[in-house]
Amino acid sequence: MKLIEAADYEDLSRRAAEFVVAQLRAKPASLLVFPTGRTPLGLFKALVDAGHCGRVDFGAAEFVTLDEYAGIAAGDRRRLLLWLKRELLDPLRIPNDAVHAFDPTAEPHAEADRIEALIARRGGIDLAIVGLGPNGHIGMNEPGSAFDSRTRRVELAPATIRSNAAYWGTEADVPRAGLTLGLGTLGEAGALVLVASGAKKAGILAEALNNPISEDLPATALRLHPDGIVVADRTAMAQAARRPN
Ligand code: PGA
Repeated sequence: MKLIEAADYEDLSRRAAEFVVAQLRAKPASLLVFPTGRTPLGLFKALVDAGHCGRVDFGAAEFVTLDEYAGIAAGDRRRLLLWLKRELLDPLRIPNDAVHAFDPTAEPHAEADRIEALIARRGGIDLAIVGLGPNGHIGMNEPGSAFDSRTRRVELAPATIRSNAAYWGTEADVPRAGLTLGLGTLGEAGALVLVASGAKKAGILAEALNNPISEDLPATALRLHPDGIVVADRTAMAQAARRPN
């Protein structure tokens, strides 16, 4: 695993964007995965700017959503696809047929199989960028998720419901279940990049980097990936030098 320490949030966003730019230059028809949440907003802005000034061409790229709440309506304001569209896909004028999104209204097993088959048909994910949950989750792979888990329906952990409440209002507004690419699915991506920013992530990032690799801490899966990369800003890295007991 490679660890990149960025000076600050802007630097982190720029460096994460460079992975996407390099990937698309090497293979324009890449299959890409992006997270939602607050951390990637600067990355999205950097990519939109790069797309608008012609530094990178998204014209042949395709996208698979990392995760989605389950059991909500297709047009629900909380739909994570809408977040991704608003912040990244629409500003880049990515057509809908290049975006493979979980349907939150579909039967979950069939929907998970559909997404897995779609990824397989395209020869796999080329680059997946993921965020870091307050409990070490990646996507909606909560603690206890098997490292070889596939795309599936999951129950959200209480820590995730608490932190996602900040997006939607209150904890009661957060759906209790979701659909997520599995850790095994993400582990097969050509490159897997985790972005982490800010003091709130310092403790869990230190654990992800230093604790024993364990399914109790899904983000430790990055250390098993042959091209696993962590991009974190200095504030998030503040506790990472401390070794575990
Ligand atoms: P955040 O979300 O970027 O808003 O911190 C990360 C996550 O919970 O996966």
